[in-house]
Amino acid sequence: MSLQNTNPTNTQAWQELEKHFSKVKDIPVLDLFNKNPNRVNEFSILWEDFFIDFSKNKIDTKAKKLLLALAEELQLSAAIEKQFSGEKINETENRAVLHTALRAKNKPDEVKENLAKMNVFSEAIITGKHTGYTGKPITHVVNIGIGGSSLGPEMVVEALTEYRNHLEVSFVDNLDRHQIENILKKLDPETTLFIVVSKSFSTQETLHNASIARDWFLEQAQQAEYLEKHFVAVSANTDKVAAFGISKANTFSMWDWVGGRFSLWSTVGLSIACAIGYENFENLLGGAQQMDKHFRETPFNNNIPVCLALISLWYNNFYKAETEAVIPYAASMHKLIPFLQQGSMESNGKGVDRNSNKISYQTGTVVWGEPGTNAQHAFFQLIHQGTKLIPCDFIGFKKPIHTYTEDHDLLMANFFAQTQALLVGKSKAEVLAEEKNLGEESPILPHKIFEGNKPTTSILIDKLTPNSLGKLIAMYEHKWFVQGVIWNIYSFDQWGVALGKQLAKNTFKAIVNKDAEEVKDASTKRLLKHYLS
Ligand code: F6P
Repeated sequence: MSLQNTNPTNTQAWQELEKHFSKVKDIPVLDLFNKNPNRVNEFSILWEDFFIDFSKNKIDTKAKKLLLALAEELQLSAAIEKQFSGEKINETENRAVLHTALRAKNKPDEVKENLAKMNVFSEAIITGKHTGYTGKPITHVVNIGIGGSSLGPEMVVEALTEYRNHLEVSFVDNLDRHQIENILKKLDPETTLFIVVSKSFSTQETLHNASIARDWFLEQAQQAEYLEKHFVAVSANTDKVAAFGISKANTFSMWDWVGGRFSLWSTVGLSIACAIGYENFENLLGGAQQMDKHFRETPFNNNIPVCLALISLWYNNFYKAETEAVIPYAASMHKLIPFLQQGSMESNGKGVDRNSNKISYQTGTVVWGEPGTNAQHAFFQLIHQGTKLIPCDFIGFKKPIHTYTEDHDLLMANFFAQTQALLVGKSKAEVLAEEKNLGEESPILPHKIFEGNKPTTSILIDKLTPNSLGKLIAMYEHKWFVQGVIWNIYSFDQWGVALGKQLAKNTFKAIVNKDAEEVKDASTKRLLKHYLS
């Protein structure tokens, strides 16, 4: 059975939200706190090692109630069940969406088999049982893949830096030769393992980089049989893997019911298992499984992904905010942003609904960000005093992953201070009281005033561990799903990335033939002429 396909703007809840929005849109959040002493309790969720504070958002009790009613009216519960039970909700590709099955207690047999294979293999790499062609243990693992076949694993490996073993792990994704060359020049072919990850095994970047790596390896190793010890693949397309020259024994399967951007839980996570050990990889899956249970079983008003999704939708569709920022207060989480960008924007950047009609309301938001405190010294100026509304997720941890607790306190003091400053701002009277040399008429005065009333959601987690990271990632995955259900779009296809790939074949042909005339539009033709000149 398909997902329902109602235009959300035609629902009763949406109409009521429109009316309510026009009444409350200008009420400062601080007034909402003053009127409702229970606001923090009402707008926060304490679940396991997560505390989520939504109270600093521009949302009142009634808006929350109406947003929850919107989710009910658009049959979110039924949609969740359809996803978890493996119905083919990815209708444009005629596929089920079952990344949750990869981390479920009872996994499908084919998943169990491949994860077991991954366990044995990663262990052999870590312990040195698997050696390179000259008998030396592997010291360096290189993941070659792009998009979902790189972003998730790289994000996790970077974030969980404290759980890393002795193996060096690098990620090659870009088609820019500079990237792979920079990595290869530091490597020894005798001790390097390449993991070529591509669900389709037809992605230009990945195949090109894998060929470069193979040539580089063979230049020294000389014999093709040695490839067996240094190249493995993760793919759903075993024929193409074989055609590339990687044996069946060295191939880890994945499946068409796992979307690339949701695939780090599968064999795509092989580099993660190598970097932090299989047990920690399992803990990551365990955390995601706990979040899945929470999402599937918790009433919507206490359901973290549902509340995050609805608040974001409130800004996107009613306040017309175009972007949202994510600020993790953990330097090791710097790759979280591109990961979330793919997850959110590739899933929900859609302009046609589930009735195949062009959409007349806003869908996917632009996601961006940077770890704090760096972000404070880059773009926070605009968030504090600019003209745009930018809701922010602040992600922080109660305990550090190192032993320097005072340093961590200093970092987190900034987290709290920033969310506070964004909420309360600084009034004219406060500036004047602080700066005695400034008169009422000073032209400098307005520049020093902070309006405040800038929305943030604080996600405070006990500690950055494989388990809590698993929960956090699954939380965002479910947020995108909820939004897609409500926006009446297909969140699990990505047709929008196809055209550029198709046209690149033609522009490459034009470059090789030194003939810009092969390209039709005047601007691109001119650019090519200049490039070729
Ligand atoms: O560019 C789009 C995309 O298909 C992503 O959805 C995917 O994660 C990435 O390319 C890589 O695809 P593959 O794993 O098939 O190489």
